Amino acid sequence: MAKISIIGTGFVADLYMRSLETFPDIKILKVYDKDAARLNEFSTFWKVNAATSLDEVLALNAGDEVPDLILNLTNPGNHYEVSKQCLEANRNVYSEKPLATQMDHAYELYELAKKHNRILTSAPCSYMSEVAQTIWLAVRNKMIGQPLLVYAELDDDFITQAPYKKWISESGAPWPFKDEFIVGCTLEHAGYYLTWLMMIFGSVKKVVAASAELIKNKLPDLPNSAPDYSTATLFFESGMVARITCGIVAPHNHSLRMIGDKGVLEVNESWNNSAKVNIRKRYVVRRKLINSPFASRFKINGLTHPKVPRRGAAAMNFALGPAEVLAAMQEGRSTEVYTDFALHLNEVTLAIQNSLDTEGVQVMKTKCPQMTPMPWAK
Ligand SMILES: NC(=O)c1ccc[n+]([C@@H]2O[C@H](COP(=O)([O-])OP(=O)(O)OC[C@H]3O[C@@H](n4cnc5c(N)ncnc54)[C@H](O)[C@@H]3O)[C@@H](O)[C@H]2O)c1
Repeated sequence: MAKISIIGTGFVADLYMRSLETFPDIKILKVYDKDAARLNEFSTFWKVNAATSLDEVLALNAGDEVPDLILNLTNPGNHYEVSKQCLEANRNVYSEKPLATQMDHAYELYELAKKHNRILTSAPCSYMSEVAQTIWLAVRNKMIGQPLLVYAELDDDFITQAPYKKWISESGAPWPFKDEFIVGCTLEHAGYYLTWLMMIFGSVKKVVAASAELIKNKLPDLPNSAPDYSTATLFFESGMVARITCGIVAPHNHSLRMIGDKGVLEVNESWNNSAKVNIRKRYVVRRKLINSPFASRFKINGLTHPKVPRRGAAAMNFALGPAEVLAAMQEGRSTEVYTDFALHLNEVTLAIQNSLDTEGVQVMKTKCPQMTPMPWAK
């Protein structure tokens, strides 16, 4: 049985707990939060062991049971410091996104993981999901011919006017709206499509992006918030080009369209592991060029992965990533690929977020490793 511990028991930790229920072979040793009241509420609700200190969750005392992997589910501004403490204590880390809010911190964590021969990786893991793996199989099977262009949208509507103070997680954690506005929708969400595109098309060579804060003074006491809109054109080494947009201004749209020389692939929701993958062939009728009005669904045959019901905005199994890392460790497979993947994701995401109206062309320094399809998607 694989063993994990969790640091940060806020809003997203509840989504992990529901997801972890689908992997009964993963045992939760300890959970920890610096907010004692939150920790108590969470550990009582889920009937899990609360650690009284960070040292305890890191199992630094003699006789402590050592977790195989620690999930860092703290706020983005705390990821670097918490992951660093884990790595320095010789523990493997799966961090919520982003790996770090500054690239120098991400590099430092990366070097630390190498030095201690530890695993360091980050969310999101939805690229391991049925929908993303189905897209990849459709590309490998040339269902739309040669892919040339992707339009990926991660617009979440005019969130500042949404009743977000009523959004409460299962065990009672409020949606951390202040933090979400400070961190920004690009750091929070770009990964939900970036990871899919990196998995399928490899390294992003250049980013040409712009970002802006359109809704000023989101909260009266908010010191400085992040861009609430960004758009980027990504130039992949493989020749593919993708345009990705993130925002909390335009109406909800999480669609992805991939245009190939033989047709178009469409998905309408990145936050649903079971979303349909539709293909429209392109053809000519007399003097007209037509993208078929009838979409045909492309599917993977057989069982894929355990699903969780929709909670709030998403139907995603957040435990797919930790489960895969633990499986790789148990099977003696290399996990370096996940560390390199996380670093490249962090660099591309920060390039988009920080572009504002000044950056122009940004050349990426990191590379995306060659990924492998999930065993059920080969
Ligand atoms: N809220 C969502 O819907 C959602 C969805 C997917 C991913 N995420 C990601 O999950 C992460 C956490 O977000 P959240 O919504 O759960 O935030 P949250 O504020 O609800 O929870 C974070 C928790 O971490 C704790 N914490 C912070 N620093 C700590 C430290 N040094 N030691 C111990 N505990 C510490 C806080 O006290 C808090 O309880 C973020 O990276 C976010 O991007 C959030």
